[in-house]
Order: sequence, then structure tokens, then C-alpha cells
Amino acid sequence: MLQVNGLSKSFGGVAAISDVTLAFPTGSLTAIIGPNGAGKSTFFNLISGGLIPDTGEVLLDGKNLVGRNRAEIIAAGVGRAFQIAKIFPSLTVEETLLGAIGAHQGHSANLWHRFPLPQTRDNVGRVADMLGLTDKMQVLSANLSHGDHKLLDIALALVLEPRVLLLDEPTAGMGPDERWRMIDRVYQLWETEKTTLVFIEHDMDIVFKIAPSIRVLCYGRVLAEGTPDEIRNSPQVIDAYLGTDHGAHAT
Ligand SMILES: Nc1ncnc2c1ncn2[C@@H]1O[C@H](COP(=O)(O)OP(=O)(O)O)[C@@H](O)[C@H]1O
Ligand SMILES: [Mg+2]
Repeated sequence: MLQVNGLSKSFGGVAAISDVTLAFPTGSLTAIIGPNGAGKSTFFNLISGGLIPDTGEVLLDGKNLVGRNRAEIIAAGVGRAFQIAKIFPSLTVEETLLGAIGAHQGHSANLWHRFPLPQTRDNVGRVADMLGLTDKMQVLSANLSHGDHKLLDIALALVLEPRVLLLDEPTAGMGPDERWRMIDRVYQLWETEKTTLVFIEHDMDIVFKIAPSIRVLCYGRVLAEGTPDEIRNSPQVIDAYLGTDHGAHAT
């Protein structure tokens, strides 16, 4: 279980995340929604070690991750898709995935232990298969479509076998058809891997269709949590998205 207690982070005078307490049960699928600037990406950065919280705890199965560095947090089991596939345009998909494992093995004896070499290639093949990248293994990253780049970024997080996977707007920049294909893949990998999956998404059709559980952030605070029906009918949520007094808009 991923449990966040009293998490806060300010930038200058701006409180991006204020006293957020949330739990994500092991194996659950949760969507995080909220207007632009609500603090969603900051929340992920605080969990994955990209930012250090001002106060609060991030507990993974009871162990506090706050204060550990990125490599330690990955080794503890928190995976996150960064836009890194595009940084290595001259590597093939396969080289990128093998390289991700190698890089982390280099950082941590613990990970080396978790990924003995003969298993590494199998693991890369399995993840590529799950995300539909198998027939693109020898394609240069530079020649991938936007959607395949995003899939490769998710694959990069998955080959390290995370217990918790954080996806920040996996469908961003996609047209309607491609968006649904992507979210189908995400849903399938959640079902297959039994990982605790948390994703940020601004397309409400997608959120209400696939997320059994939703958390709403607004101005850095938890505005509501519940099932799609509960969120759809929540007066606070409707107000946050539609209320003119807030000046906040869903994008
Ligand atoms: N590195 C940063 N430095 C200064 N302000 C930031 C930084 N990251 C985020 N913010 C501010 O924190 C607030 C929340 O941003 P963000 O987490 O990106 O929101 P969201 O992902 O929900 O759109 C915004 O007001 C944003 O301008
Ligand atoms: Mg964001």
C-alpha cells in the first residue's frame, strides 16, 4: 500500500501541495484529476523523489521514502514514466530498454541482484509484448510515433518491475482514437501486472470509464475522493470545474 500523510510543498509563497493525505491500496487503479495547476504533477514528483516535501511522509508498505534519492526510491519499487525515450534518438527500442536496466543496475547493487543478466532480456521482451512494442524493437527511437514514444516511456518504468506505477497524463497530445488505444494498454498492464497504478488524466470520459477510484486535487488540496459516480455527483467537484468564482478550468 502507498500511503501519503500530511504532504506539503510550496514554491516561494505558492502552496502547490497542502497537507495531502491519501492512500492507494496495493493493486488498486486510481485516477487523479483536477484543474490545471492543482498540484497533480507536483504530487507525483514528491512521491517519486523528484522533489523533497516540506513536510509529510510517503510510505510504501510502511517504509518512509522521504529523504531517499531517486535510485533508492526506484529500487524500493516506485516507477514513473518520464519523457526520456526522446533523449536517446539513435538507440533502438530494445537498446533503450536494456540500457534502462543497465543504468539502474550500475546505480544500485540491490537492483543488480533483482535483475540477473539472463532474466533481463526476457523481462524486456515481456514488457515490450505487453505494450505492443515487440515488432518495433529494432526501430530507432527517433523514428517512433508520439504514441509509441509514450509507450516506450511507460515500458522503461515497467522493466524495473515497480510495485507502484505513476503515469502523468499518458494520453497527453493524442487524438481520440490513439488516446483510447493508449488507455486500453494501460488498463491491460494494470490487470496483468497487478501493480498499484496511479494515473493523472484530464479526459473525463477516460477517467469515468476505467478508474474504479478517483481522487480530485484542487489548489493543492484533496477536494474529493470516491467512485466515478460519487465524483460525478459531487457538488464540490462540479463547482471546481464549472464554478466561475474559482476561475479554474479543466483542460
Ligand atoms: N518547479 C516549480 N517551481 C515553481 N512553481 C512550481 C514548480 N512546479 C510547479 N509549480 C507550481 O505549483 C502549482 C502546481 O503545479 P503542477 O503540480 O504542475 O499542477 P498540475 O500538474 O495539476 O497542472 C502551479 O501553481 C505551478 O505553477
Ligand atoms: Mg501536470
